Amino acid sequence: MDALTRLPLVTVRGLRVAYDETTVLDGVDLDLHPGEMVALLGASGSGKSTLMRSLTGFAPITGGTARVAGHDVTNLRRGELRQLRAGVGQVFQQFNLIPRLSVLTNVLTGTLHSAGPINLVGGFRSEHRKRAMELLDRVGIAHKAKDPARSLSGGQQQRVAIARALMQQPRVILADEPVASLDPKLADSVLELLRDIATRDGIPVLVSLHVLPLALRHTDRIIGLRHGEMLVSAPTGALDADKLSVLYDDEEAHDDDHRA
Ligand SMILES: Nc1ncnc2c1ncn2[C@@H]1O[C@H](COP(=O)(O)OP(=O)(O)OP(=O)(O)O)[C@@H](O)[C@H]1O
Ligand SMILES: [Mg+2]
Repeated sequence: MDALTRLPLVTVRGLRVAYDETTVLDGVDLDLHPGEMVALLGASGSGKSTLMRSLTGFAPITGGTARVAGHDVTNLRRGELRQLRAGVGQVFQQFNLIPRLSVLTNVLTGTLHSAGPINLVGGFRSEHRKRAMELLDRVGIAHKAKDPARSLSGGQQQRVAIARALMQQPRVILADEPVASLDPKLADSVLELLRDIATRDGIPVLVSLHVLPLALRHTDRIIGLRHGEMLVSAPTGALDADKLSVLYDDEEAHDDDHRA
């Protein structure tokens, strides 16, 4: 697909985020086009989570511009923050499911973003249930629909979380270390699923990772941060572990993280 000729859904230029006196991000540029999966790399504390949070209005942008799915994040109108967040599917390291609720109900909670406050007693609409089952089928765990989320393995729970993100029909997906709690084989399969969503559904995915080979195997572009500055921004095919070592050079303590 000629995805890269299509308009970006996320455009960030010269982004700066600061908490009081501390600058956490400075001069970050980022484009996310339909169809692509982009890795966000950097040592612990380099600003990966902060960048993701800034895109949904959870971190204070103090300079530059950020447009996400048609919203100007630095200049949101009244009520627009909710729309912005409804359009961004999020996936986290710890899955963030509701453990005692069924897998199906967890996926259905993805509809709550757009519906606003809802009376859960009334239950979910049947068309939503149907779609939730289809999504569970797609992520390969329809047979677990009735089980409580807590009874699933980590890899399965992350698939539920991805189905939940898709349930909200996102324009963009932000996945913050989605495979950090999974063994290597499951990590590959979850990243394959995310990339399939990017390519087949055209929903761009920004994924932060700590393991370089995973980024090199599964993504189209790599953005690398060090101490909040963007040191790398290139197609994955033009990069290798050597070229990326600049991100970790003075971070001996984290050597094990990225050479794994
Ligand atoms: N609410 C906050 N107030 C002050 N400083 C913050 C806040 N949130 C994050 N920071 C600082 O911003 C920097 C970047 O943090 P961030 O969580 O974005 O890093 P990260 O790259 O996601 O790290 P990790 O790989 O450990 O998840 C850190 O120095 C952190 O202390
Ligand atoms: Mg983080």
